[in-house]
Amino acid sequence: MLWTIAFTVGAYFVCGIPFGLVIALAMGHVDVREVGSGNIGTTNVARSVGKGAAAATLLLDLGKGLIWMVVARYGIAALALGGDVAALDHTTAFGVSLSCVFLGCILGHVFTPYLRFHGGKGIAVGFGAALGLYWPIGVGLLALFLVLAIPTRYVSLGSVVAAASLPVWCVIFGFPTASVVPVVIAAVVVIWSHRENVRRLVHGDERRFAFHKSESK
Ligand code: G3P
Repeated sequence: MLWTIAFTVGAYFVCGIPFGLVIALAMGHVDVREVGSGNIGTTNVARSVGKGAAAATLLLDLGKGLIWMVVARYGIAALALGGDVAALDHTTAFGVSLSCVFLGCILGHVFTPYLRFHGGKGIAVGFGAALGLYWPIGVGLLALFLVLAIPTRYVSLGSVVAAASLPVWCVIFGFPTASVVPVVIAAVVVIWSHRENVRRLVHGDERRFAFHKSESK
């Protein structure tokens, strides 16, 4: 229990690192909070700076979630389960620990302590953390996201539907009931962070995905 709390708090501070903001400032001298959607994620870095900065943001945001989940997985096994790798079964209480750490990753990115709790929307970090939670869930989320986002070019549509589906994937793959609670909270936080996107989707004025003008020809 104590180690689960420790790794969840660690997830908050690690996944709070606002890579998109830092990369856009370094590569494009742009504060992404002031342009486009104002979001610090890959989509807004792509439209405000360009492909290279977007790729770096995606890689680092996804990577921080995935790496921290892997660290937590083996850290909890080593520190709380006496190094018993056979106990790393997500259908047991271990699945509850992992889903708490997953929630920490999402809360850290969306309510980052480094930007007065105004962070991103939790998509890239969520995919990375979902891959670490149980990789088939990450693959399922990605497939659903791509099926919706590619034909429409509405990244937010794919993002919101993928987030809403997360608890369903956990149930399908046998996570314990208690672990669904943190996952539902994480999904609600991600959907809530997209509230302006949802409003624009409903009104038909959502931005479609595009790279920065200088790269879109
Ligand atoms: O990852 C965030 C995406 O779903 C929407 O981004 O910048 O269009 O609000 P944005």
